[in-house]
Amino acid sequence: MRDRRRGTAAVILLGLPGSGKGTQALRLSETLGVPTLSTGEMLRREVDAGTRLGRMVRGSLDQGVLVGDELVNEAVCARLRQPDCARGFVLDGYPRTVAQAQFLDKCLKNLGFWPPRVLWLEVSAEEITARLLNRLECSACGRTYRATEDGQARVCEVDGAALRHRADDNPDVIRERLRQYQLNTAPLLEHYPASRLRRVSGTGTAEDVARRLREAAGNRSLTVPVQAATSGLSCAASQ
Ligand code: AP5
Ligand code: MG
Repeated sequence: MRDRRRGTAAVILLGLPGSGKGTQALRLSETLGVPTLSTGEMLRREVDAGTRLGRMVRGSLDQGVLVGDELVNEAVCARLRQPDCARGFVLDGYPRTVAQAQFLDKCLKNLGFWPPRVLWLEVSAEEITARLLNRLECSACGRTYRATEDGQARVCEVDGAALRHRADDNPDVIRERLRQYQLNTAPLLEHYPASRLRRVSGTGTAEDVARRLREAAGNRSLTVPVQAATSGLSCAASQ
């Protein structure tokens, strides 16, 4: 087995749509020095590029329903095999179903990772809707902004690209995304053992939330040992 576990920083960031996963994943990635893997961003890029996958998932994204597990599972597992993930990663928006979580458990075990710390961002449903209706995103890198609080910002402060509203940030689709979350994602609270799960308040300033997440992702908590993998299966072969 490859020993990629020592000193790795593997984090799963979960929470309601609009709880700040994307905002905080980037910050946590910088702090930990590991890449962010966002399935929502990945799927939106495919839609924008008009690829076959993009055409397949566009309807689901527009309606706020989850795309099929198999479409995201293999893509995430393939990404986790890349060398830049060897020291860890921050997963944003994956897993989203119990079946995805089970697949990820196997994938990480086969790749020799420690079980990740799971950080659950908690924000009230009322605040969520206000945030999503007020969100702008960079059309190039996906970084998020607030239409009012971030003042005059109309281009991304990082790459200068135009900001836009996301197609799924409208009241009907937000309602469906919240429903999908309760139906498919909330059960993950039972999937992960309490020893790996931290609930973190997602309210207050983004800096406050980032500080809480850094504390909750403390290095010691990221190195809980896992039994050595005995299976020779690759992720792709392990469903
Ligand atoms: P995805 O892109 O993951 O959407 P989501 O889960 O609905 O989450 P959001 O991106 O809307 O919110 P966020 O938590 O990232 O919040 P953000 O940081 O932007 O998925 C989109 C779609 O793709 C899904 O509906 C599904 O179809 C598909 N999909 C994705 N993953 C899938 C999977 N694993 N399986 C199947 N299908 C999948 O913040 C929101 C706003 O709040 C921003 O304006 C931000 O500036 C602001 N904000 C952030 N922090 C604060 C704060 N502390 N105070 C005030 N405002 C704040
Ligand atoms: Mg996001």
